[in-house]
Amino acid sequence: MATATDYLVNVQIMGKPYAVPAGITLVQAMWHVGLEVTRGIGCLGGVCGACATHYRTADSYKLKSGLACQLIVEEGISFSLLQSFPVRKPTYHLDQITDPKQELFKHFPETAFCRNCNACTEACPQGIDVRAGIWKANFGDFKGSAEHFLPCVMCNLCVPVCIAEISSNQVGLYARRAQGVFFEEKTTELTTRINEIKTGKFDAEWNRILSMPTEALKTLSLA
Ligand code: FES
Repeated sequence: MATATDYLVNVQIMGKPYAVPAGITLVQAMWHVGLEVTRGIGCLGGVCGACATHYRTADSYKLKSGLACQLIVEEGISFSLLQSFPVRKPTYHLDQITDPKQELFKHFPETAFCRNCNACTEACPQGIDVRAGIWKANFGDFKGSAEHFLPCVMCNLCVPVCIAEISSNQVGLYARRAQGVFFEEKTTELTTRINEIKTGKFDAEWNRILSMPTEALKTLSLA
């Protein structure tokens, strides 16, 4: 007959041993043992990147990385939430940039020094080929780079492992932004609608909605 301990797994959280219920996530395990973790926890759905985690499993010597809200506890797992560390976030204004491909090296000069070690790709919990995305940006293929970084959740796990000190996720974000602003073909519908908004076509209707009481707002149809 199964006992309560059959449903528990032994884990180490920040170096301390605990027994926690099988099947829960690493975040839930921390809460289960009474750790009041709030910083580093966001969406719980794997999209905000807040819960970056380092962990080891009993069957491997490797230090792995992932998202604590997406990983399930297993017997012998040891993990710690990644502490906050200073990320380099250069300030740039896309509307003042004339040559986004050259400006990449002004804001992120270290990008050119990628040594192909692939540590960033190994660290990415989203399965992004980060190294390839960096090289596509280096060669001016912003479309390819932007597509590579599309699933990026900005967890920063690629940053501390880079021997060239590249903040790869920030480079990816720059490529995505620049691609959208400079190289994507604008849809005529979007341009038309933006102009309509700018010229006040919807101002009266918008002001009417803003002045409506809450109960009346609930009856509004989106159709
Ligand atoms: S809490 Fe948002 S990705 Fe884990």
